[in-house]
Amino acid sequence: LANGLGITPPMGWNSWNHFSCKIDEKMIRETADALVSTGLAKLGYHYVNIDDCWAELNRDDKGNLVAKKSTFPSGIKTLADYVHSKGLKLGIYSDAGVCIFGRYLTCSKTMPGSLGHEKQDAKTFASWGIDYLKYDNCNNDGSKPTIRYPVMTRALMRTGRSIFFSLCEWGDLHPALWGAKVGNSWRTTNDISDNWESMVSRADMNEVYADLARPGGWNDPDMLEVGNGGMTKDEYISHFSIWAISKAPLLLGCDVRNTTKETMEIIGNKEVIAINQDSLGVQARKVRMEGDIEVWAGPLSDYRTVVLLFNRGPQRYVITAYWDDIGIPPNTVVEARDLWQHETLKTRFVGSLTATTNSHTCKMYVLTPTMS
Ligand code: DGJ
Repeated sequence: LANGLGITPPMGWNSWNHFSCKIDEKMIRETADALVSTGLAKLGYHYVNIDDCWAELNRDDKGNLVAKKSTFPSGIKTLADYVHSKGLKLGIYSDAGVCIFGRYLTCSKTMPGSLGHEKQDAKTFASWGIDYLKYDNCNNDGSKPTIRYPVMTRALMRTGRSIFFSLCEWGDLHPALWGAKVGNSWRTTNDISDNWESMVSRADMNEVYADLARPGGWNDPDMLEVGNGGMTKDEYISHFSIWAISKAPLLLGCDVRNTTKETMEIIGNKEVIAINQDSLGVQARKVRMEGDIEVWAGPLSDYRTVVLLFNRGPQRYVITAYWDDIGIPPNTVVEARDLWQHETLKTRFVGSLTATTNSHTCKMYVLTPTMS
């Protein structure tokens, strides 16, 4: 979307994966504090995004959305001021749906959706200082999302405030095919769960649309589960690596107030984040698949290439990436930087690179052409 936002994929945190509806203003403030105190904010995690369940079931007598009094007693504007004072940005959630018992409700059915109230709600969000809107698709009226979503796009644009617009139509009607003019990111999958099968299947579904991602509009395979406990460290490394090379939004879905050292090593890996945020903005693709073995690769700025040797199987495998597959000219000599070991390999490589990869994890390298 040409609103100047999302020039690189958005980074931050969202309440849904860990907390679902159990959210309140204290926890959101503490999350903002934690993003700063852990150093995650400095690494680029700037958006603090409130998901479903933040509003009262009823609008006020002027038809405005109202923050839930029992959980957000100070209101969203006060919260936005607090989050901004920390140098961060506040995101909020609504839904392009639907009339149940005369009301438009979100997926949780605990608050109203915005269908038919787009202008009013966009104005409200802007007046509160909102920086990001996630727009869900539950309980919709059956009309096409290509009709319902652009109404909110226009309403947000007309507020004059820069608001990142995240389309949460779960991939059913291929938002990747129409999202570029409507939003800054679009879901390519239904909801992720905190387990290996769910994570890899979302990675696969998202990969199909790789050619459609670009600065200003990104494929979104759903938010991160790293730190929520359902996968091993190796599996979370795969999760974070694939999201990074896929130029996916890096929206943390764990409780950042209580992160372990292990989680921080993954979500705080500067070198992997830099791949996600690379200025070229090209999503990596699967370039070779042989049973449980995959090679993913994509171009980076400055003629570099990122390559992922990904082992989906139950045992160790030796995996080779061939220059032919990953788009490097045949005789090019490269230097390889291992982004998880944080070391530049002593050997130079020409034609291919081979490494052993443990079960359910990956090796991730940046290859830089070299003369020496
Ligand atoms: C469905 C979305 O896909 C989730 O990410 C989350 O926003 C829930 N709805 C909230 O109800």
